Amino acid sequence: MFVEGFTDADWDHGLGGLHLMAESDDGRLIGHSCIVQRHLMVGPQRTPKRVGYIEGVAVDTAARGQGVASSMVAEINDIITRAYDFGALCATEQGLPVYRRAGWQVWRGPLWASTPDGIVATEEDRGAVMIYETDSVALDLDTDLTADWRVGDVW
Ligand SMILES: CC(C)(COP(=O)(O)OP(=O)(O)OC[C@H]1O[C@@H](n2cnc3c(N)ncnc32)[C@H](O)[C@@H]1OP(=O)(O)O)[C@@H](O)C(=O)NCCC(=O)NCCS
Repeated sequence: MFVEGFTDADWDHGLGGLHLMAESDDGRLIGHSCIVQRHLMVGPQRTPKRVGYIEGVAVDTAARGQGVASSMVAEINDIITRAYDFGALCATEQGLPVYRRAGWQVWRGPLWASTPDGIVATEEDRGAVMIYETDSVALDLDTDLTADWRVGDVW
């Protein structure tokens, strides 16, 4: 269960992506995560990058603390390395240490969103937006990062 709740928009954000499922030894679904493609824009010039954006990471309460999320994130990292310029996500308090241990870093620079009303600051998400670097793009984590538009939480 997501402490902050899980909205219809949150559900929509994972649709159409690549879904990773974790199963228990007896075949029960105990974990889910997905990668959707987005275009995030880097720097003041807002250079678009092809990003694997992580959504819907959740593990059955009875199966937590056993490395289920960590093993899904290891798989995600491998996919991002092979298919995207970099990975990104907006972490919950519970999720942040799991990603950090798997090599993800908090974006330090200003956060923005490209909205129907123009570019707006999304400072409330600072500290929660994380990225996973690949060899294909050198990133400056102190510069601006701008999200493409979507209904619901932009990050
Ligand atoms: C966040 C969440 C996905 C983590 O799932 P999880 O499977 O319990 O995560 P892991 O087991 O990989 O790691 C959690 C802890 O178990 C520990 N752990 C135990 N056995 C482990 C193993 N074999 N391998 C790796 N870690 C292990 C980790 O060290 C970690 O310790 P910590 O909490 O002190 O940092 C889960 O708590 C959840 O579903 N929360 C609600 C939804 C949510 O917030 N999702 C995140 C969205 S960004």
